[in-house]
Amino acid sequence: MFRGKGFYASALCFLLFLIGLVGVIGDEQKKFYIIYLGDHPVDKDHATQTHNHLLSSVKGSENDVKESMVHSYHYSLNAFAAKLSEDEAQKLASMDQVLSVIPNQYHKLHTTRSWDFVGLPQIAKRKLKTERDIVVGLIDSGITPQSKSFKDDGFGPPPKKWKGSCGHFANFSGCNNKLIGAKYFKLDRLPDPADILSPVDVSGHGTHTSSTAAGNVVPNASLYGLANGTARGAVPSARVAMYKVCWVSSGCSDMDILAAFDAAAYDGVDVISISIGGVSTNYTTGSISIGAFHAMKKGIITVASAGNDGPSLLSVSNHAPWILTVAASGIDRDFRSRVHLGNGRNISGHGISAFNPGKELYPLISGADAARNASTKEDAMYCSEGSLDPAKVKGRLVYCKLAEAGSESVVKGIGGVGAIIESDQFLDFDVAKIFMAPGTIVNGTIGEFINKYTKSTKTPSAVIYRTRTTKKAPAPFVPLFSSRGPNPGSLHILKPDIAAPGVNILAAFTPLRSLTGLKGDTQFSEFSILSGTSMACPHIAGVAAYVKSFHPAWSPAAIKSAILTTAKPMSRRVNEDGEFAFGVGQVNPTRAVTPGLVYDMDEMSYIQFLCKEGYSGSSLPVLVGPQPINCSKIVPGLGSDALNYPTMQLSLKNKQEPTIGVFRRRVTNVGQAISIYNATIIAPKGVEITVMPMTLSFTRVLQKLSFKVVVKAQPTISMVSTGSLVWKSSRHTVRSPIVIYSPQG
Ligand SMILES: *[C@@H]1O[C@H](CO)[C@@H](O)[C@H](O)[C@H]1NC(C)=O
Ligand SMILES: *[C@@H]1O[C@H](CO)[C@@H](O)[C@H](O)[C@H]1NC(C)=O
Ligand SMILES: *[C@@H]1O[C@H](CO)[C@@H](O)[C@H](O)[C@H]1NC(C)=O
Ligand SMILES: *[C@@H]1O[C@H](CO)[C@@H](O)[C@H](O)[C@H]1NC(C)=O
Ligand SMILES: *[C@@H]1O[C@H](CO)[C@@H](O)[C@H](O)[C@H]1NC(C)=O
Ligand SMILES: *[C@@H]1O[C@H](CO)[C@@H](O)[C@H](O)[C@H]1NC(C)=O
Ligand SMILES: *[C@@H]1O[C@H](CO)[C@@H](O)[C@H](O)[C@H]1NC(C)=O
Ligand SMILES: *[C@@H]1O[C@H](CO)[C@@H](O)[C@H](O)[C@H]1NC(C)=O
Ligand SMILES: *[C@@H]1O[C@H](CO)[C@@H](O)[C@H](O)[C@H]1NC(C)=O
Repeated sequence: MFRGKGFYASALCFLLFLIGLVGVIGDEQKKFYIIYLGDHPVDKDHATQTHNHLLSSVKGSENDVKESMVHSYHYSLNAFAAKLSEDEAQKLASMDQVLSVIPNQYHKLHTTRSWDFVGLPQIAKRKLKTERDIVVGLIDSGITPQSKSFKDDGFGPPPKKWKGSCGHFANFSGCNNKLIGAKYFKLDRLPDPADILSPVDVSGHGTHTSSTAAGNVVPNASLYGLANGTARGAVPSARVAMYKVCWVSSGCSDMDILAAFDAAAYDGVDVISISIGGVSTNYTTGSISIGAFHAMKKGIITVASAGNDGPSLLSVSNHAPWILTVAASGIDRDFRSRVHLGNGRNISGHGISAFNPGKELYPLISGADAARNASTKEDAMYCSEGSLDPAKVKGRLVYCKLAEAGSESVVKGIGGVGAIIESDQFLDFDVAKIFMAPGTIVNGTIGEFINKYTKSTKTPSAVIYRTRTTKKAPAPFVPLFSSRGPNPGSLHILKPDIAAPGVNILAAFTPLRSLTGLKGDTQFSEFSILSGTSMACPHIAGVAAYVKSFHPAWSPAAIKSAILTTAKPMSRRVNEDGEFAFGVGQVNPTRAVTPGLVYDMDEMSYIQFLCKEGYSGSSLPVLVGPQPINCSKIVPGLGSDALNYPTMQLSLKNKQEPTIGVFRRRVTNVGQAISIYNATIIAPKGVEITVMPMTLSFTRVLQKLSFKVVVKAQPTISMVSTGSLVWKSSRHTVRSPIVIYSPQG
């Protein structure tokens, strides 16, 4: 869609507006709200006028309006943010022009072998000429411009379409031809002494995700020699733009996230990667859902993290159908330390301890035995701050149970050597925790063994050796932390969509934070190891950029379809939640470039879907305004899910009789002009699946052919059953899982 020059100029002003914003809003009774006016194009002057006018109808004076107005969104959507009392918010909400008034909320970040593991070797075929024109935008905690991952040796000027900018900010040396944009948004303007008002990354998260998606090839990267190898993003020749919205103390606010989406769309990014929690299940109220929809309309695909709230079901976030939702998978690598005990026995602990022991053995004491006094004994078992007697801990290793992060830090802080930490939580064994002093995590069985040993001798002793990488099997697996489906926003859409590496990922880090952020940690590194769906998300964002470099004209839905239908199915034996854990399975980047067929969609497809899901026509202009949508006009004759999604999910309606689902789909031929695809169906027990027709014969490129899938499921099936439909030609395999979910199963 073309927008007049005024829009571009106006959005440029928008940054200046941010920087120039003066006058602190001090009224503590008031809260921030986002006021949505629908999506019709407006130029900046007109928008500001309208926004001020609306605001003035609930405010006394011009000065009040000025103080209350926080931000005007006017490029990809028409909305403004303001500081209001509840009364004022309600008054605005009742006005005709106002679609909705939503309180601003704060969200959390979802905290080099990985590319080889999923099959994107460094020598993979590339379209370098177009890859150089791809811009990956990250909405995150900032970036480290001086990192090797973002140096611009060999890069030409930014692509012509680029309208982004990057100034000089506090502690921020500025951009180059690799890092071509950097902005920050902190519209609440509340002070955060732990952060820096600049796009610079003080937490390490944004630096890490950016380098995973599109960082340079950096040989000999490691964390103190661990996980050593070549660090690189999926698209090392692509450009990076950072939109900082996450702040150390406050988190990431809706107002800022929306401003970042608006700016990224204006600047001209191709892909947005956002590893931030979205709590809203309503697709017309969540800032990430709304921002991603407007980005999609501009041809930008949004890739988001599924969340770290697993393994409970229904925990997946960022699940709108226009978002590509990414679960985390673990690769075949583990970090273990050998612990040698004074009785000659060796045991194995988990985590990353980069310290070489200075002695053969250190005296070992159990935390409970090192309590400061009788009343701190309970806390001392956990080595809690203040509970241990420094005299008993000095020069020793301490054995404790895991409480909050950092037992080794407490021990080290009072003169001890380090800690052997016992945990019963299987959660703690998926992720390698980094220690700030010698430390390791053992399970309950081994903990019991150590406990017995310390009681069996007057002089127990032990030593923790430096961590080594080991092989881990079976892989890939979905770690417990990765959020699970089914999708709480719609029982018709399978979420998460796909899995990508998110466990113990090595990528660039910030020099402004020690590796653990714990008091007394003196470890700093250009690269660090982090885990989370936050780390999985930029892997897929990078793959989306990779696919786009081959197919610059493809829609976000086509890119997503290509990535989903070519993924490698994962084992349900290893991952018992099946598709609710891993979606279609593990990403397969090189195959995603030649999918053969794609399931394409435009913005109206999603509106049909929302109508079918029961969204009222009047709630939809936030996405496709300004006029309300007449849902009864749009829906006729569509299948169960009303969407041309590349996966299918049927939710059983009742336990008495079979449930029948009809999925109508249309695939576009993006392979050879003349190609014939045959359907292969796999149906689980208790489910019949039929496809009509069984053969699709294409005679030209971009030809679209429709088919119908009918699924009949007996009421007796287990909670999650999975079948699949695979379209096979002589060259391509196009796979869609068909998930049958029995809510009471
Ligand atoms: C940021 O820059 C200021 C001024 O140059 C300096 O005083 C401060 O130490 C810097 N902060 C960090 C965390 O580097
Ligand atoms: C690789 O890095 C290690 C540790 O950072 C360093 O000791 C070594 O010299 C480096 N090797 C090369 C070839 O640069
Ligand atoms: C990592 O370092 C080890 C020990 O220095 C070396 O043997 C190995 O080849 C390195 N691996 C890579 C991928 O560079
Ligand atoms: C413990 O490991 C060391 C080093 O690998 C080895 O020399 C020793 O024999 C091991 N002890 C036992 C009891 O296996
Ligand atoms: C035990 O030590 C704690 C922490 O130093 C102190 O607050 C508490 O008063 C002590 N209790 C006794 C009974 O000495
Ligand atoms: C505890 O860890 C040891 C060593 O890693 C392993 O052999 C054992 O199976 C684990 N026990 C449990 C209950 O997970
Ligand atoms: C979502 O929120 C909007 C605005 O509050 C409301 O009109 C709509 O009915 C909600 N939709 C669903 C499905 O909850
Ligand atoms: C919506 O469309 C239906 C069918 O065309 C029509 O009967 C109805 O009057 C329309 N409703 C509105 C509010 O326009
Ligand atoms: C598709 O099915 C037809 C008819 O059964 C068969 O002749 C053809 O070889 C099949 N094609 C592929 C690619 O399997």
